[in-house]
Amino acid sequence: MREMGVTESSDQQQDGPGQAQDRMSLRDVSRETPVDSVSSSRFDQDRREALMASLPEMDEDTPLAAQLTIDARRRIDLQGRRFPRPASTRVITIANQKGGVGKTTTTVNLAAGLAQAGLNVLVIDNDPQGNASTALGVEHRAGTPSVYEVLVDGAPLSSAVQQCPDLPSLWCVPATIDLSGAEIELVSLVSRETRLRKAVDDFLAERVQQGLEPIDYVLVDCPPSLGLLTVNAFVVGREVLIPIQCEYYALEGLSQLLKTIELIKAHLNPQLHVSTILLTMYDGRTNLAQQVAAEVREHFPEQTLKTSIPRSVRISEAPSHGQSVITYDPSSTGALAYLEAAREVADRGRPQPLSVQPVDGASRNVSRQNYLAERWAVLPSYQEDAR
Ligand SMILES: Nc1ncnc2c1ncn2[C@@H]1O[C@H](COP(=O)(O)OP(=O)(O)O)[C@@H](O)[C@H]1O
Ligand SMILES: [Mg+2]
Repeated sequence: MREMGVTESSDQQQDGPGQAQDRMSLRDVSRETPVDSVSSSRFDQDRREALMASLPEMDEDTPLAAQLTIDARRRIDLQGRRFPRPASTRVITIANQKGGVGKTTTTVNLAAGLAQAGLNVLVIDNDPQGNASTALGVEHRAGTPSVYEVLVDGAPLSSAVQQCPDLPSLWCVPATIDLSGAEIELVSLVSRETRLRKAVDDFLAERVQQGLEPIDYVLVDCPPSLGLLTVNAFVVGREVLIPIQCEYYALEGLSQLLKTIELIKAHLNPQLHVSTILLTMYDGRTNLAQQVAAEVREHFPEQTLKTSIPRSVRISEAPSHGQSVITYDPSSTGALAYLEAAREVADRGRPQPLSVQPVDGASRNVSRQNYLAERWAVLPSYQEDAR
């Protein structure tokens, strides 16, 4: 494997050894074989596996070489692959009241990953900052029909839906600056917590009536707060995806978030549960990131995706081009990680509702010695409150 200067440069790499050849071979596969036949998909899978097996062994001592091998495997495994359709529309709310943890980045890139793999995806930008709208390249200047009109004026969702320029099966309901007033305006409105749910349910039913293809995934991006906008997002979502940034304050506030979800579940939306946790901005070179990741996986073994999202320059650059990283630089480490995460989301369907692992007295005493366990120590009390 080629040596590279710094980890981030793996994002800017040219094709590594064998990768150009991988692409050629996969292109050949899709040219030679009809898309729908079972034998062709078996053939396709065999070719993918043979190509992956031909890659050199991963060298754990040289992280850059290991990353290149992971990327090459993912590229071979995921390129041109179609993900399974869910039995019915999955509505996933991406929430964490902390800002800057990767909610919007995750919403946009998971959505793009799912759409690129052949699924119909709708993103609802429910954050007044409108970052998801920017990243998906949709119009969201003041006055554009948006989630504000849907929530406050009761406009139909279809009047605000825009198709994203890069992916034909990806749509977005944008957020404009008007949404910043909605938090206050909603307070005096009837059914203030369930307005988005009604709009989305009506929209999905309307598509079926019109004979249009159903939407497979609705992803709702949330603002960094637990106000009425987030409550509306929790009432519309059946699942919650929590992005957790692998950094120092990552776990602070998590118990409050889980309590809020339990309250919504008890009073407004019995189906709501935390189905997915995604580790974001993961830097495996730091002990702290490894510790955070290990603690999260220990407490949420079923919910935490195997794939974590690395820190990546390409991921942070993509929004300034009005694109997801999946379309901006499809072969970058960041794009491949989000595509892999999207495949996991699509593959695992809906896991069991959240179960917090009990922390026994002995292990609690030991783990209290470090900062991370201090943060987790709130979880047993959350469990008691939730009962
Ligand atoms: N994996 C990543 N690598 C590098 N930068 C990232 C990554 N994920 C998010 N960012 C950057 O971090 C900042 C916060 O991310 P964002 O998704 O907007 O968080 P949130 O929506 O939770 O506030 C943005 O500038 C974004 O580009
Ligand atoms: Mg955001």
